[in-house]
Amino acid sequence: MGKGQVPVDQVNQAISVGFSHIDTAQAYGNELEAGTAIRESRLEREEIYAFTKYSAKDGSDVQSSIRNSLRDLSALATLGLSYVDLYLIHHPRFATPDIPTAWKELEKINADGLAKLAQLPGKILVHPHVYSQQASVISYASSHGIVTAAYSSLTPITKKPRGPVDAPVSAIATRLGVTPDQVILAWIKEKLGGGVVVTTTSKKERLEGYLNAGELGVTH
Ligand SMILES: NC(=O)c1ccc[n+]([C@@H]2O[C@H](COP(=O)([O-])OP(=O)(O)OC[C@H]3O[C@@H](n4cnc5c(N)ncnc54)[C@H](OP(=O)(O)O)[C@@H]3O)[C@@H](O)[C@H]2O)c1
Repeated sequence: MGKGQVPVDQVNQAISVGFSHIDTAQAYGNELEAGTAIRESRLEREEIYAFTKYSAKDGSDVQSSIRNSLRDLSALATLGLSYVDLYLIHHPRFATPDIPTAWKELEKINADGLAKLAQLPGKILVHPHVYSQQASVISYASSHGIVTAAYSSLTPITKKPRGPVDAPVSAIATRLGVTPDQVILAWIKEKLGGGVVVTTTSKKERLEGYLNAGELGVTH
């Protein structure tokens, strides 16, 4: 879920086609809507993977922020357990006054059972135009058992079209009878080697396409 969307309807739609990984953020102010959609889905708590991120909104500290987020994601509590599956610091600049101190705060959240996993930023920009710059970070994370999550993966289609990968992506899509966005998502999933692509769409057919993209086996 990004900024400025129609979250409850969009989360409902995503859950209805089979998504269970709900990405929210304090900075985006979409936790309340996500909580409402999760409650309306009537899924069991264990069937949902919900996470949110700290961004020092209104000057709040990490400990009060996670509690505010859990209150807003209240459906999680209604479902029985008040925790998020993953709690991230949204950007390194919010790891104040320094990373070791911020890390201690995350350890406390984890120990208090408010998040199953609490981490510093684990989400990076990955799309074909920047893959070569990110490959070493992905490889480092992979060798240390850290799951990489990619954002803005569809940039070659959405933000920077008519770029260097348009022709091969289009040729692969035609050959496989799929859409260009599916080709890019499958390629990135392969490059992440078990990582997660975080994307968004208001369109049901694209949501279904994203779910199927992992099965394409596109490696180059
Ligand atoms: N630091 C961070 O943690 C961070 C940074 C950036 C983004 N994010 C989050 O990551 C998620 C992904 O955001 P993003 O902008 O980076 O997403 P993206 O995956 O690069 O692109 C998604 C956008 O592409 C459009 N789209 C999808 N397929 C398309 C196609 N075939 N043709 C044209 N448009 C297409 C979608 O619009 P339609 O609704 O029209 O399908 C949607 O607006 C969001 O929830 C965002 O909030 C997090």
